[in-house]
Amino acid sequence: MKKLRSQDWYGKRDKDGFVHRSWMKSQGFPDHVFDGRPIIGICNTWSELTPCNGGLRILAQAVKRGVWEAGGFPVEFPVISLGETQIKPTAMLYRNLLSMDVEECIRGYGMDGVVLLGGCDKTTPGQLMGAASVDLPTVVVSAGPMLNGKYRGQNIGSGTHVWKFSEDVRAGQMSMEDFLSAEAGNSRSAGVCMTMGTASTMASLVEALGLSLPTNAALPAVDARRTTLAHLTGKQIVWMVHNELCLSKVLTRNSFENAIVTNAAIGGSTNAVIHLLAIAGRLGIQLSLEDFELGSEIPLLVNCMPSGKYLMEDFCYAGGMPVVLNELRAHLKAANTILGQDLMNYTKGAECFNREVIYALNEPLKESAGIKVLKGSLAPDGAIIKPSAATPKLLTHEGSAYVFENIECLKNRIDDPNLPVDENTVLVLKGCGPKGYPGMPEVGNMPIPKTLAQKGVRDMVRISDARMSGTAFGTVVLHVTPESQAGGPLSLVQTGDIIRLDAQNGVLDLMVNEETLTQRRANWKPEEPRYSRGYAKMYVDHVMQANLGADMDFLLGSDTRPVTRESH
Ligand code: FES
Repeated sequence: MKKLRSQDWYGKRDKDGFVHRSWMKSQGFPDHVFDGRPIIGICNTWSELTPCNGGLRILAQAVKRGVWEAGGFPVEFPVISLGETQIKPTAMLYRNLLSMDVEECIRGYGMDGVVLLGGCDKTTPGQLMGAASVDLPTVVVSAGPMLNGKYRGQNIGSGTHVWKFSEDVRAGQMSMEDFLSAEAGNSRSAGVCMTMGTASTMASLVEALGLSLPTNAALPAVDARRTTLAHLTGKQIVWMVHNELCLSKVLTRNSFENAIVTNAAIGGSTNAVIHLLAIAGRLGIQLSLEDFELGSEIPLLVNCMPSGKYLMEDFCYAGGMPVVLNELRAHLKAANTILGQDLMNYTKGAECFNREVIYALNEPLKESAGIKVLKGSLAPDGAIIKPSAATPKLLTHEGSAYVFENIECLKNRIDDPNLPVDENTVLVLKGCGPKGYPGMPEVGNMPIPKTLAQKGVRDMVRISDARMSGTAFGTVVLHVTPESQAGGPLSLVQTGDIIRLDAQNGVLDLMVNEETLTQRRANWKPEEPRYSRGYAKMYVDHVMQANLGADMDFLLGSDTRPVTRESH
């Protein structure tokens, strides 16, 4: 067998070998576990501050069992954990920090393969970005979704319903008592949001990328079969190390194209765009925003909130991702998986148990569900919209803008009874891009102005350089690039300007003549930077725009050389 990477730490019969082994022996490991067997890192994002990942300690134990059983030596290590609903100012600010933490831990320690335990939104992409930059054999075990939410005997979806309930409270149609009762029934177990939000989207795309065992995405966090899957994954990673199946041998451009197609069929989160672009960037795979058009004609097959009505538990019982991938067969390209087999073998024999939840390709839930890429004078480098979560008649719309210069303006004025808006107004929010906020928060689905919400208006065209929660819905144009803080045309929009959206034809135009824009540009200044120190300053100085995945410029690509002073 080829000498493993970990032998550079634990295989030497000298002072260094003594030091590396001896300190590990302080945990009670006997001498024979350093005999050259694969050492498997278990990268755990468990934290009480990330409740979605609360089940990962149990899964880590199960992975360890599988690793031991297959003749490996498991070692668990922590990295920063990003609790989407807990960390301020926004978890996205820290996705790249997580990726750096993961990369440096994998590179710096003596392991031969790695199992990534993630779940909550940014943990999966952050871990994959970091692992891709080292390129060892890598496999994912996701935290799994929570049990279905419950309120007054009905299913409620995490995220999706909170928007609705808060709008109902603002419109005077729901009491505070009922609101708090819904809050209690919303999150009934460990696990990630149980709608097809960003966490379940990314877990589903992990399966489409062939980076986990089949069924990883949808098994509920508390289902014993997820623990079994973790055990089997422990065995699989040892096999991958023996077969030198590193990440770049699994992930190719075809894999990413398959993920884009799959994201459309599951009604996946708009955040998948930014994360897939960033992961591809670490592997040196050319993937552009325009490539997401590959999904634009793909029909919606999965009837899960926010695009549909069911939840991840229902998706699991209907057969989960293997069924979706099987349905999409004709649209998917040849691509390897962690099994060392093509994706099509990986899903063979998948059977659907509920066609209300997973539709057949020839009888889809909706035609053309993919994310639409928009371009035009308001977004020269692109913007996106999720038509399946939008109001169809608003997808072609021309209206007069009402501009919020930043998030504080929005918060201060959205409930003003005299706000000069009607249902045809286009709400525009600036200052929420990667550099501007900083960290590109999920605020693109601005609340409907109170005065309109009280009249029953539930959707309006909303445009910003922000992101939107994968659990949210509405006719919301996101990721406008260049962002306003970078001086993009968005920075020049003024209240009263006419904006034209034509999602079908991919157009987003600011109907203001060039002469006027040139005058406005001459008077424009970016906001003063909000951070002068620490990671946030480094982020603002180096983060790239949304169409490039919002990774930092110095993190692109990978370094797979043995660890030396030079390679570090
Ligand atoms: Fe963690 Fe939704 S908040 S997955």
